[in-house]
Amino acid sequence: MGLFSRSTQTIGLDIGSSSVKVMELLHDKKTGAWRLKTFGLVKLPPEAIVDGAVMNTNVIVDAIRELVDRHNIKTRDATVSISGHSVIIKRINLPQMTFEELEESIQWEAEQYIPFDINDVNISFQILDEQGDEAGQMEVLLVAARKELVNEYQSLIQEAGLKPAIIDVDAFAVENMFCMNYDAPRDLVGLVNVGASTVNINVLQNGVTAFTRDVGMGGRQFTEEIQRNLNISYEEAEMLKVGGGDDDADAVIPEEIETILSHVSENLATEIHRSLDFHLSATPGVALARIYLSGGAAKTPGLARAIAEKTGAPIEIMDPFRRIEIDERAFNPRYLHDVSLQAAIAVGLAMRRIGDS
Ligand SMILES: Nc1ncnc2c1ncn2[C@@H]1O[C@H](COP(=O)(O)OP(=O)(O)OP(=O)(O)O)[C@@H](O)[C@H]1O
Ligand SMILES: [Mg+2]
Repeated sequence: MGLFSRSTQTIGLDIGSSSVKVMELLHDKKTGAWRLKTFGLVKLPPEAIVDGAVMNTNVIVDAIRELVDRHNIKTRDATVSISGHSVIIKRINLPQMTFEELEESIQWEAEQYIPFDINDVNISFQILDEQGDEAGQMEVLLVAARKELVNEYQSLIQEAGLKPAIIDVDAFAVENMFCMNYDAPRDLVGLVNVGASTVNINVLQNGVTAFTRDVGMGGRQFTEEIQRNLNISYEEAEMLKVGGGDDDADAVIPEEIETILSHVSENLATEIHRSLDFHLSATPGVALARIYLSGGAAKTPGLARAIAEKTGAPIEIMDPFRRIEIDERAFNPRYLHDVSLQAAIAVGLAMRRIGDS
């Protein structure tokens, strides 16, 4: 075994609606350093996953197989994440008890917080304050996911020849990626990952989830709006959008497209603000110290500014590779920089180890 132990490593597999990403990270337990071993991305056609539902399993299975082949991946254990309405994340108060006691009673305790039949969900939890408060109550982070969705992802992974070792949640993957790359602040901060079809919102307090929410919007809205207005194909619209959204400061975006982008940015920012406000307004006087953006659509020109204006919070675009060692002979730095925001969730997933918690 070398410097970088990989005995319990998993492959991070992010199945997004616009692309499948795969990542392997090596971890030096002594120094805490992370090093990039594998990164790959395969685009999906827009009809493969629609509104969070897998419409074409074969296309996704093929994409995973292609990535495993292309990058000569030997690990079989995969960490994959789910999101959307089938996942419920809540902080709840319960009478103080041990982990074992809660394991026994969680089904009963959780039932009132879950809008689905308790028999139809997989439940996991984390006790946030073991010693409890004066009233003998303790805080618990409850996570429930519909079995139907979990099973679907598990069989997808198996069909692709891999083992579904860990089922994670998008919002937690973003959180893990963030906490590794940035020193988790004590302040209230918002992590907002804007993908193609989903916005994952996760508000952290003292580095722990205060609340999460997924909104069914994203980069796809911009593309569809360009498509509709210019009467062109989805692919053409996507090219127009991304071409203008390069980091190249000189890139010129036609005025017509700029108008469309800013209109959709407004809508998206309003929706993000509404979700944040809904939860924040429960505690008067609290405000977000900062919002950290990730996800491919975070690069949309004008979106960050629109979110800043609506929420009043300073915005920072994350760098998911900020603290990851990268061998520039093995990876093209320019390519990695271009796709880094899309890799945000894959980083969080690739950090997971079997047996960790
Ligand atoms: N330079 C760019 N400018 C604007 N948008 C971009 C740019 N690069 C990528 N995007 C958009 O980012 C989105 C893809 O981001 P990401 O990979 O995070 O989403 P996903 O994981 O496929 O989707 P989801 O998780 O929401 O199902 C697409 O909508 C794409 O058009
Ligand atoms: Mg995604």
